[in-house]
Amino acid sequence: MRLQDRVAIVTGAASGIGRASAELFAAEGAKVLAVDLEPFSLDHENIETFDQDVSAESAATAIIGGAVERFGKLDILMNNAGIGAGAPVEEFPDALWDKCLAVNLTPHFKLSKAAIPHLKESEAGRIINVASVMADGTDYGLAAYSAAKAGVAGLTRNLALELGRYGITANYILPGAIRTGMTVNFKDPKIAEIWAKKSPLKRLGEPVDLARGALFLASDDGGFVTGHGLNVDGGLMLRV
Ligand SMILES: NC(=O)c1ccc[n+]([C@@H]2O[C@H](COP(=O)([O-])OP(=O)(O)OC[C@H]3O[C@@H](n4cnc5c(N)ncnc54)[C@H](O)[C@@H]3O)[C@@H](O)[C@H]2O)c1
Repeated sequence: MRLQDRVAIVTGAASGIGRASAELFAAEGAKVLAVDLEPFSLDHENIETFDQDVSAESAATAIIGGAVERFGKLDILMNNAGIGAGAPVEEFPDALWDKCLAVNLTPHFKLSKAAIPHLKESEAGRIINVASVMADGTDYGLAAYSAAKAGVAGLTRNLALELGRYGITANYILPGAIRTGMTVNFKDPKIAEIWAKKSPLKRLGEPVDLARGALFLASDDGGFVTGHGLNVDGGLMLRV
């Protein structure tokens, strides 16, 4: 019960990494506000779901206020909601660039900002931002995605610097190739095999692999870790 009596928010929690993290946090004793676009359900007494687009104008107030209203405080903010966006730069629609940053980067700033007064009150305030190995590298078509994820890394390092004096840690996770709703092409065994082979561990990541990394950062185990980017990628980024 590593998160006993803690209150957490997890965005993008209807599926994949967010769902596994919300479930693991709840199993470890946290009360969790699980946020996603559409109404959804998660079967745990510690979890309340909340349908809210993280890129909407009033999302930060609604989500942070919603958690504090329901549970009385906030200890852990996990900004995880994200979308893929792929096209060569020459053809990349401006509107898709805007949307990619509006979902994959700006909410991390706005929700963190709105959470700060509450995290200052916590004895173990935590911000966990989900980036990607594409924050450090990139791939064809991923200009906007890589830019957003590199932005998440930069934002998180700054949060760690500015909030450390309040005992708040801020870290980001760099998932590798994980079997989730975002990677629907992994349903094709050939593509799944290609990505699995790229990793020294020779398998795709499962959402729970990421949830365990998030739990480390959220719990007392990660209490002296801040400003860190945790690769949970099976070693995908080791080879040059
Ligand atoms: N799966 C991978 O291989 C991989 C690799 C690197 C990084 N990531 C990152 O992990 C995070 C989680 O993705 P996942 O792989 O679990 O994918 P997923 O598609 O299974 O889950 C993402 C969730 O975010 C939600 N979401 C999307 N836009 C939203 C919005 N505007 N407001 C609220 N919720 C929204 C979706 O509805 C979905 O439930 C993302 O930030 C993604 O970029 C995933």
